[in-house]
Amino acid sequence: MGKRSNFERIPRDFYPTPYEAVVPLLPHLAPVTLFDEPCAGDGALIGHLRKHGHVLLKCCDIEPRVPWIATGDATKIGPGSVADCYITNPPWERAALHAIISNLSAHLPTWLLFDADWMHTRQSTPFMPYLRKIVSVGRVKWIPDSKMTGKDNCCWYLFDQADDAPAQFIGRAA
Ligand SMILES: C[S@@+](CC[C@H](N)C(=O)[O-])C[C@H]1O[C@@H](n2cnc3c(N)ncnc32)[C@H](O)[C@@H]1O
Repeated sequence: MGKRSNFERIPRDFYPTPYEAVVPLLPHLAPVTLFDEPCAGDGALIGHLRKHGHVLLKCCDIEPRVPWIATGDATKIGPGSVADCYITNPPWERAALHAIISNLSAHLPTWLLFDADWMHTRQSTPFMPYLRKIVSVGRVKWIPDSKMTGKDNCCWYLFDQADDAPAQFIGRAA
């Protein structure tokens, strides 16, 4: 998965999250965080978070890969979830990504894993007021067994429209 890679992208950006990409997020989650996963794919990210004691309340995907994940569109989810936050690795295609940021962060704090380059682009400016935290991840190996890591550095972004604290940057852990 990478904007600058020569590989054809997988439809709907279905790249399950590898465990290594979740490790930098863990210190930023309270113990037993209740979360919703709105772009859950085959549930890879859910499995990693559960291993660390976090509790899934609801999950969906526009094209779920396993029967226990509901069909749903993250751009259309309404308010009312009792989770502490949304956590997902969304599609990186900008129209879908931006609609997901706008919708989810209006309801709950929203952790999203995607490319770090985005925050330096002009198209990110409307979303900067929603941004509370950036946690550096580095390059991620999206395709297991491939010898290559993705070409894009990634980070976890925390968006929350109910807060107005300045965004905090957390650099790479040793
Ligand atoms: C990069 S994959 C991540 C899968 C999973 N979150 C994980 O981390 O293992 C992105 C997922 O977003 C889903 N998706 C794309 N557009 C969506 C939308 N509007 N609403 C919900 N899911 C969507 C795709 O079907 C795909 O499964």
